[in-house]
Amino acid sequence: MLTDAIKTYQQRVDQVLSQHLHNLDDAAPTLKAAMTHGALLGGKRIRPFLVYSVGNLLNVPITTLDNLAAAIECVHAYSLIHDDLPAMDDDCLRRGQPTVHIAFDEASAILAGDALQTLAFDIISTPIDGLSPKQQLAIVKSLAKASGYQGMCGGQAIDLSATNQRIELARLTELHNKKTGALISCAVEMALIAADASESDYAALMGYAHHVGLAFQVQDDILDIIASTEELGKPQGSDEQSNKSTFPQLLGLEGAKQTSQQLVDDALSELTKLPYNSQLIADFARYIIVRRI
Ligand code: IPE
Ligand code: IPE
Ligand code: MG
Ligand code: MG
Ligand code: MG
Repeated sequence: MLTDAIKTYQQRVDQVLSQHLHNLDDAAPTLKAAMTHGALLGGKRIRPFLVYSVGNLLNVPITTLDNLAAAIECVHAYSLIHDDLPAMDDDCLRRGQPTVHIAFDEASAILAGDALQTLAFDIISTPIDGLSPKQQLAIVKSLAKASGYQGMCGGQAIDLSATNQRIELARLTELHNKKTGALISCAVEMALIAADASESDYAALMGYAHHVGLAFQVQDDILDIIASTEELGKPQGSDEQSNKSTFPQLLGLEGAKQTSQQLVDDALSELTKLPYNSQLIADFARYIIVRRI
């Protein structure tokens, strides 16, 4: 069942992540505490969920997936710490806690983000049982591309330049695909690389990831309007207050909801091309647009 699987994988990746953080020496205790605050206090762990569930679908041993899941969550945590900074979205609440620059200070938040990002690459460039060096190199490259100019950072830059602007749907779609979709697709791609997947599995599952990734950010935009600060654990209305370009702002709430539903339908139709029982990740796609957190 989906909720059980989400919880199981959440607990599993939390354990792997906390071990990696615990293994860091204590030379810079404030930095270590800031990294721990940003990475370990809550979070749905949906990118690790995708690594684990797609990997499991393709028969990759769970122990091979642990460090891939932990690494992608490190990059995600870094992206959130920096996203909340005053120079970016200037938000004070994340996962029901003060954001890292509030709980610590801005310099610590910048460094915590930087160090979580490099920790991710440290983790996936250390030999992993069940993966060849070639597979690991492909995974490193996938994460680098998804995180940087061509992915999350590029998307965040477009997001900032689209603030207080009206942009076209195609540009907004590009923004969302990069700032959020790229890492979600990378989670699936890591599992595909680990499985040495066939071309047809690769195409179907990357198609699924593409639609799920965009739907995920459209729902994030919707939740900024319809959910409460308590539910979200982050400030409701932040997008409107900052005059961000979002799907509801461009298409209206109903238009945004229709878009997310269409994206989930498209994701599900990709799964029909697979020769496996993909019920769990199908349920996950449906959950993306009904979630309240
Ligand atoms: C929030 O991501 C930022 C986006 C990319 C939409 P999540 O909704 O995955 O945040 P956590 O990790 O569960 O807090
Ligand atoms: C953030 O998008 C995407 C990232 C790359 C972190 P948002 O700015 O909408 O994310 P939230 O709403 O603050 O979590
Ligand atoms: Mg943002
Ligand atoms: Mg934000
Ligand atoms: Mg948001």
